[in-house]
Amino acid sequence: MRWTISKTPSADTAADLLVFPTFQVKDKADIKDVLLGTKGGVRKAAPGETAPAGIKKKVASSGFVAKACSLLPVYCSNTKAGWLVLAGLGDETKLDLETIRKTAGTVAKKAREMKAKKVLVVVPDSKRLGIDDVAFSRAWVEGAEMSLSPTGAMKTAKKSPEFPASCVLLADISRAKDLRAGAAEAQKFVAGCFFARALVNEPPNIQTPVHLAESAKKMAKEENLKCKILTVPQMKKLNMGGLLGVGQGSANPPRLISLEYRGGKSKKSPTIALVGKGVTFDTGGISLKPGASMDLMKSDMGGAAAVLGATKIIAQLGLDVNLITIIPTAENMPDGNAIRPADVLTMANGKTVEVLNTDAEGRLILADALWYAGRSKPDYIMDAATLTGACVVALGTHFAGLMSNSSELIDSLKQAGGETFERVWHLPLIDEHKDAMKGTWGDLKNLGPREGGAMTAAGFLAHFVPEETQWAHIDIAGPSYAERPATLTPVGGTGFGARLMARAVQIIAS
Ligand code: BES
Ligand code: ZN
Ligand code: ZN
Repeated sequence: MRWTISKTPSADTAADLLVFPTFQVKDKADIKDVLLGTKGGVRKAAPGETAPAGIKKKVASSGFVAKACSLLPVYCSNTKAGWLVLAGLGDETKLDLETIRKTAGTVAKKAREMKAKKVLVVVPDSKRLGIDDVAFSRAWVEGAEMSLSPTGAMKTAKKSPEFPASCVLLADISRAKDLRAGAAEAQKFVAGCFFARALVNEPPNIQTPVHLAESAKKMAKEENLKCKILTVPQMKKLNMGGLLGVGQGSANPPRLISLEYRGGKSKKSPTIALVGKGVTFDTGGISLKPGASMDLMKSDMGGAAAVLGATKIIAQLGLDVNLITIIPTAENMPDGNAIRPADVLTMANGKTVEVLNTDAEGRLILADALWYAGRSKPDYIMDAATLTGACVVALGTHFAGLMSNSSELIDSLKQAGGETFERVWHLPLIDEHKDAMKGTWGDLKNLGPREGGAMTAAGFLAHFVPEETQWAHIDIAGPSYAERPATLTPVGGTGFGARLMARAVQIIAS
């Protein structure tokens, strides 16, 4: 969708849809005043401007009170913009960024349904909104775009033309610079989110580790990043027993993807490593998963998708950081050559791990990747992984679990999550969780006690992170895939984590 800013008086501009974001009114009789006025109205009338009488009448009799995400389309023949839509922003005292995104998303979906090519949005008064123009346009554009996330890449039907194709934010010219900046930033976040979503949605017969590496390489080229892909012989040289072990049961060989963005402008610029779990399909291996819903395990590379999406955003924003993105990727299959429960693997850091359950494979591949990331001595490491069913049981699908040894990372991720609405919930991580993963036959085991599974999984990973490095582990098993559609997320990969981590890096870099 193309976004532009214009000061043209709304009623005189040719368009298919003219949108008025509107605060909720207490009494439905008040709604007639919102268009240009005093009550829920978010725009002041231009000198001499009045709403056409016919429209006022229709709005007054509608019963519409502008609850959040509710819409009132009114046909108005006497303006060039044929349809006018009041878009509810809900209670004025409760407005937040996500409400703006969802309202924008609801409008965008309506515009698509109405086959509107051009949409005009009357930008509300920033004083009335209580947020600046950059933040408003960023949220509006992000919400509109995210709600229309492309789907059906594998369907053979011809793609229908894009509706809406263009969107104009209407405001006084003095506000254009800020509105443009917000829209441009939003489009970068959306690009990263869509990239992540598309990667998760690709079917696992196509999205193999080699294919994921190719996608990462292509993105790296587009964003001017360095890209290195380790193959099996190179992984063998580094003794990556975890990644090799998980990959050995599949006909599709594992890979270790690493990307580098050198955006640091000074010696003080932080070095940040992002690590993402890239299991392109998780059958459970010899500890085979039950058949029901196993198809969802194509999303077990959601962490890889998230860090790739975040990397794309960070590169496009040109943030003042040095970024290393590491993705261990493998397919977890049962096979004559697959690892079995009781196997002992030697990991890249030299520690031995007894495999008690081949379905706890994510931690095995992440262990080698965290060690690999640690070699570059980053100031911070963030990893994202669809790691445990336990985290889904504990937190559901609206929150990722956050486990960390760093209060700075916890604060940054909580703030970033509040703003992007990719929310995290802080869970404890203590030495007892690390100790719970000590093995009988090897130094460690990959399966802990039944209780506290999300935290003992993090405890396992902690054995592979340098002590002094600030590290956050984000378990996205719940929110990374949507089984039901919502306003901003169609069914499929949600892209969860891409915007969150990019925003967190932006906060750390600022
Ligand atoms: N990929 C799964 C975790 C998962 C579950 C992701 C649900 C998304 C939705 C992971 O590899 C796994 O199977 N974990 C096991 C670990 C257990 C064997 C210790 C689990 O959570 O059951
Ligand atoms: Zn598994
Ligand atoms: Zn898995």
